[in-house]
Amino acid sequence: MITMEEYATIDFAEFKLMRDYIEKYCGITIRQEKIYLLETRLTSLMVESGCSNFRQFHTKAVSDTTGKLRDKIIDAMTTNETLWFRDTSPFVILDEVLVKRFCEQIKSGEKSKMVIWCAASSTGQEPYSIAMTIYEHIRTHPGVSADHFEIIATDISPTVLYIAMAGRYDGFAISRGLGETMLNRYFIQDGKVWIVKDEIKRMVQFKKLNLQDSFSPIGKPDIIFCRNVLIYFSDEFKKDILRRMAAMLRPHGHLFLGASESLINYSAEYEMLSHTRGLYYRVR
Ligand SMILES: C[S@@+](CC[C@H](N)C(=O)[O-])C[C@H]1O[C@@H](n2cnc3c(N)ncnc32)[C@H](O)[C@@H]1O
Repeated sequence: MITMEEYATIDFAEFKLMRDYIEKYCGITIRQEKIYLLETRLTSLMVESGCSNFRQFHTKAVSDTTGKLRDKIIDAMTTNETLWFRDTSPFVILDEVLVKRFCEQIKSGEKSKMVIWCAASSTGQEPYSIAMTIYEHIRTHPGVSADHFEIIATDISPTVLYIAMAGRYDGFAISRGLGETMLNRYFIQDGKVWIVKDEIKRMVQFKKLNLQDSFSPIGKPDIIFCRNVLIYFSDEFKKDILRRMAAMLRPHGHLFLGASESLINYSAEYEMLSHTRGLYYRVR
């Protein structure tokens, strides 16, 4: 029998094969010093696939015509860390600036629908936080309803999309960023699981989308949340995504990035705005 130690070493040539495969299929770049990441995240999948080294595993992945092994590799290599109302300020800006303005535009007959795209939505905390923010706002606005909003949430990983669509979270996931009021108002407890209420679930449509592919299935959003995903990509791929997002946004549409991400050096197509110390961007 082959031991785990005999399996779990990756040489530089194998690293380059797997690194290039991953970048080709999901855009994630793995620098040489992160060789351990590739090894720790892929070794058990390699073993499960009946391979005894990464060269064999790469050959198997390349010749897999079903796409199943590719999805498993992408699942293993993506970082799905997320939480409710992450970084707070995007949700404050959404509430105090963008949804507020949109409600006025609905009342004046200027607009009838606000489309929000949550790109890289992971297990659903971000799009459901957007939906709860909107719901909280419109509770006090007669004449504006959830039907005036469409939230499209996408991710490359089928596993996170499955969890997101189910809208079921354990105590640990629930404890990260969700206050008592939101929990009691928008979730139903079923034993050790908390389930997102239907009125919030109904506002979000989940789809599988790789940011390398065309954005045309999304249409023309008013707002894009693209947070904590660009950090994993090359500068070239970041620029490409930001340029295509600028082209698809409605005139004066807005973009939110993660707290550690910025547009400096990447795009001249947006102007930076701020509200209560939070930053967001508007397409020029
Ligand atoms: C760290 S999570 C961020 C989740 C959420 N946006 C947030 O800020 O809390 C990054 C997500 O990006 C997704 N992702 C990675 N590469 C992607 C790609 N090429 N296309 C679409 N989604 C991708 C991952 O599956 C993961 O769920």
